[in-house]
Amino acid sequence: MKKLVIEGGRALHGEVHISGAKNAALPLIAASLLAPGIHILHNVPDLRDTRTILRLLESLGLSWERQGSTLKIDGTGLNCSEASYELVKTMRASVLVLGPLLARLGRAKVSLPGGCAIGARPINFHLMGFEHLGVRCDLEHGYVDARIDGRLQGGTVYFDIPSVTGTENLLMAAALAEGTTIIKNAAREPEIGNLIDMLTGMGAVIEGKHSERLTVHGVEKLTASESTIIPDRIEAGTYAIAVAAAGGDAMIKDCDPGHLPSLLEKLRLAGVGLETGDDWIRITTTARNHVTNVVDVTTMPYPGYPTDLQAQFMALMTCSDGLSVIHETIFENRFMHVPELQRMGADIQIDGRVAMVKGLGGNLLTGAQVMATDLRASSSLVIAGLAAAGRTDISRIYHLERGYENMVDKLTGLGATVWKEDE
Ligand code: EPZ
Repeated sequence: MKKLVIEGGRALHGEVHISGAKNAALPLIAASLLAPGIHILHNVPDLRDTRTILRLLESLGLSWERQGSTLKIDGTGLNCSEASYELVKTMRASVLVLGPLLARLGRAKVSLPGGCAIGARPINFHLMGFEHLGVRCDLEHGYVDARIDGRLQGGTVYFDIPSVTGTENLLMAAALAEGTTIIKNAAREPEIGNLIDMLTGMGAVIEGKHSERLTVHGVEKLTASESTIIPDRIEAGTYAIAVAAAGGDAMIKDCDPGHLPSLLEKLRLAGVGLETGDDWIRITTTARNHVTNVVDVTTMPYPGYPTDLQAQFMALMTCSDGLSVIHETIFENRFMHVPELQRMGADIQIDGRVAMVKGLGGNLLTGAQVMATDLRASSSLVIAGLAAAGRTDISRIYHLERGYENMVDKLTGLGATVWKEDE
């Protein structure tokens, strides 16, 4: 296995180009199951997770080819409705094949994803939604076996919590249902708008984009289309926080600042210099590893502060002048980065889903050997390593490679001293 080595203490300068969004690429790749023909997707990041879902689609009979950041997926050969445990256990977003398989075949047998480092991650809202469209869902031997004779029937679905992949699964299922489906308390993340644009391009009829109430008028069939993945707002936010923590003056390009309203506000409140354009964010800070103002964060569904940027912001707050209260409301176990940050000298107390972060003022974190536990926790350790004095070795960086394309090259391009080596 590989580890990431960072020689901290270097200010970051220059520019970093943001890739397509992992959490848009996964549902849009899954949507190619909905119709035969060649689906073209531009700006698709090449990540462990996108490679995993493409392997899953291959196991279902589809074929694909990548030309740079463009994917061509042939939806014609669909000949299987079963997603194996071996594939699903490596990436829970594999559940995104449930909706399109039910829509196209009336049958889907998918291993229950099981939990992951950050929480139990149930899919009860997905299954409840399918049942409201006439689907029978049986749970046995660790699989959900969902089926319906004939077409799905339009209905009304209400999410207790605005589930992102739940909304995406139900959109894909409802697109080919007979009649109209209304999804209430739907998630409003930008990635869902990206999926709605793709489905509309395929012939779906969907009203209410970007709102919490989506109306889907089912159609008889869909046709393959061409779409572009939106920029990865979580990757962009991660690099913005990294420059704020390490200090420097850098441009984050090919991003959409409009997708980061809450983070940009928090960075401004923290005293970070910040300018934005249509597709770029400029971060300027004077002192390294030191932001003057302390800021509290409570994670919320979009457009609130994203849970996927909670760990990264906590690394920044370890460098502030005061006590920051960080409340994680979305997942029950998303503080796995805290013990690792504490090994670097951070002063953090946890009480349930609340972390109290006492900033080190002008003092620096110190480099250490730390371990990545999940995707976003590992990016938090990278940020801490960039800001710290000395060398940081981060093990198990396969977590990072799930969601950050070419991170070593991108950080090196910003002037960081970082490399990979065998553990
Ligand atoms: C998506 O996960 C993202 N993944 C996650 O990003 C992100 O953290 C999350 O949304 C929240 O924004 C993808 O888009 C592939 P949810 P998802 O359903 O859809 C509970 C990353 O780092 N819930 O919105 O699985 C759930 O336990 C990943 O890129 C149920 O109880 O999240 C959680 O507490 C991590 N039952 C809350 O709802 C359900 O059926 C929100 O989960 C579904 C969800």
